[in-house]
Amino acid sequence: MHRVLIVLLCLSCPIFSLSVLKDEQLQRFNQDGYLILPQFIDAEDCDCLKTHVAELLEAFDPSDVSIFETLNQTQSADQYFLDSGDKIRFFFEKDAFYPDGSLKQSKEFSINKIGHAMHVLDPVFRQFSTSDSLVKLTEDIGIKNPLLIQSMYIFKQPRIGGEVTCHQDASFLYSEPNTTIGYWIAIEDATIENGCLWAIPGEHHLPLKKRFVRTEDGKTRMITFDETPWDLSKMVPLEVKKGTLIILHGHIPHMSYANYSSKSRHAFTLHVIDSSSSFPRDNWLRSEELPFKGFE
Ligand code: FE2
Repeated sequence: MHRVLIVLLCLSCPIFSLSVLKDEQLQRFNQDGYLILPQFIDAEDCDCLKTHVAELLEAFDPSDVSIFETLNQTQSADQYFLDSGDKIRFFFEKDAFYPDGSLKQSKEFSINKIGHAMHVLDPVFRQFSTSDSLVKLTEDIGIKNPLLIQSMYIFKQPRIGGEVTCHQDASFLYSEPNTTIGYWIAIEDATIENGCLWAIPGEHHLPLKKRFVRTEDGKTRMITFDETPWDLSKMVPLEVKKGTLIILHGHIPHMSYANYSSKSRHAFTLHVIDSSSSFPRDNWLRSEELPFKGFE
């Protein structure tokens, strides 16, 4: 009953003010490959989403996931991930466990992320992901026929929130020609201390260095096109206040360092492509039961 009340409360939150990109912002995005939009959503709406996620975690039973298998990255752990495109699934931090498979701290502080169909299956995140402001933003960025393909709630837990190494999102969500765009929304303040995003301005003009594919035998493989490592000295930190939305071009190299601080760094991400581009079958992400849809 309590959970239902929270959900209804969240559905009634005053989400979200309309935002329209100015020409200079669009130019900046085209120049840098990312764009920071402060105060895209209200701070209280962030709190509302956070409260809702706390309720989802409360209802989550970790025994649904084999902790040993998650720990050891076995085939069934891989399958849990590979089947998550049309589900809401919970993924642990790799440092969340003792060697015997038991959790070091409570599940609330052990989860790495929830994914990957929150924008479809969860009423609160569906409302957020299809809000007028995101529709308008997507139109402004030049995506005429959007398909929402993936969503994640990322926790970046205090002390154990792991590093996400430098990558291009289109390596994992490949569209041809590339139309992949990521929306990264700070639900909490993101600072250098708690593991904010870093990006290399302008390097979205470079081709993909890698592609993560699903193989014929149901496994995955990383294909490397360019062995040259990213020059991390070119990275700039994207420290933002909660409520900020960062638009990420599918080819922009970005990363986040581990969070050794005492503060979490929650974020919600949503990825969009244009239906004019193809989304090859060898992408790891599949949504068999929920074909990709637009903002309707
Ligand atoms: Fe990313």
